[in-house]
Amino acid sequence: MSTHTLTRETVTALVHNATTAPSVHNAQPWRFRCFLGTSTLHLRSDPQRAVPHTDPHGRALHLGCGAALMNLRVAAAHEGWHLEARLLPDPWDSELLAAVRLTAFGSGKEALGALYPAVRRRHTSRYPFEETEIPEAVRSELAEAARDEGAALIFPTGWHLQEVVERTQEAESRNVTDRGISEDLKQWTHGGVPFDHTAAAGVPEYAFGPRRLGGRAPMRDFAGGRAVSGRAATAFEHHPHLALLSTALDRPEDWLRAGQAMERVLLLATLKGLSSSFAAQALEWPDLRRPLRDPATGSGHVQMILRLGYGPPGPATPRRPMGDVLDIEP
Ligand SMILES: Cc1cc2nc3c(=O)[nH]c(=O)nc-3n(C[C@H](O)[C@H](O)[C@H](O)COP(=O)(O)O)c2cc1C
Repeated sequence: MSTHTLTRETVTALVHNATTAPSVHNAQPWRFRCFLGTSTLHLRSDPQRAVPHTDPHGRALHLGCGAALMNLRVAAAHEGWHLEARLLPDPWDSELLAAVRLTAFGSGKEALGALYPAVRRRHTSRYPFEETEIPEAVRSELAEAARDEGAALIFPTGWHLQEVVERTQEAESRNVTDRGISEDLKQWTHGGVPFDHTAAAGVPEYAFGPRRLGGRAPMRDFAGGRAVSGRAATAFEHHPHLALLSTALDRPEDWLRAGQAMERVLLLATLKGLSSSFAAQALEWPDLRRPLRDPATGSGHVQMILRLGYGPPGPATPRRPMGDVLDIEP
């Protein structure tokens, strides 16, 4: 075992990778506090960055923070660090989502490190994808990646797929007329231009993708029905490849596990040349979430609906500066 110690530079680089994770409306609801002396890093939720109407129970918040934790694990493994994470270690402090200990600087890299090139390459793509099938071997690898994190990933077909598409469309129509959901969208979207990081959070207009004009791909319209100048309208795929990520239980720690599984699947998908987006609308309405379950088993709680396919990559979106998200103590 090496005597390698954790430095400010290493921690900053690791957290920088963590914060490229997806989060609902790009709210980035996380904070990191590092205690250099004990090589410990705390991942905390940031209640100021909740999206209250869309995510009243904080489920999506935990998913985003779980995704950030996965990126941290991948970046640490890439650098040769061994990382141990305890989820929700303090029952009296629900904002402390994970305590992470970087225990040793190993000689070999851990397997998760192979996903590292995808950490900065993965972006949400709200463009139409090709109708091309995703090979069975790739789908099984993605399902295995989810399983390794304690979640299940299935690719619905037939009437289950139809059900998922219809529930998502129903949720999308409700969202357009729901006052609270529209307020969330207004707060977390802005007319940013690429690489102008003055607005460090939220979804900029350049990332909305074109308006859907035909096709069955379930898309969230971040414009909320309003016109955005210069935004094209186009047909999306008729046979979307959707993947449902589920966990057996539905507690905050399951949401954190689901977030890690989601990001692991997305990173692997990116390495396999797939683009990805999310369709979480139906999960935000309790009566629409339940019928999404796998009809073969009828069990499990769906945590995320991913849309995968071959198509254009999405653009990079802003992230908050490190000084806003990371405190380092001696
Ligand atoms: C829990 C969760 C729910 C999300 N829901 C949607 C969604 O319904 N539609 C969508 O297009 N993007 C969705 N996203 C993606 C975020 O909008 C996206 O991650 C964020 O804008 C940052 O962009 P990036 O993924 O390109 O880094 C979701 C992300 C998370 C973590």
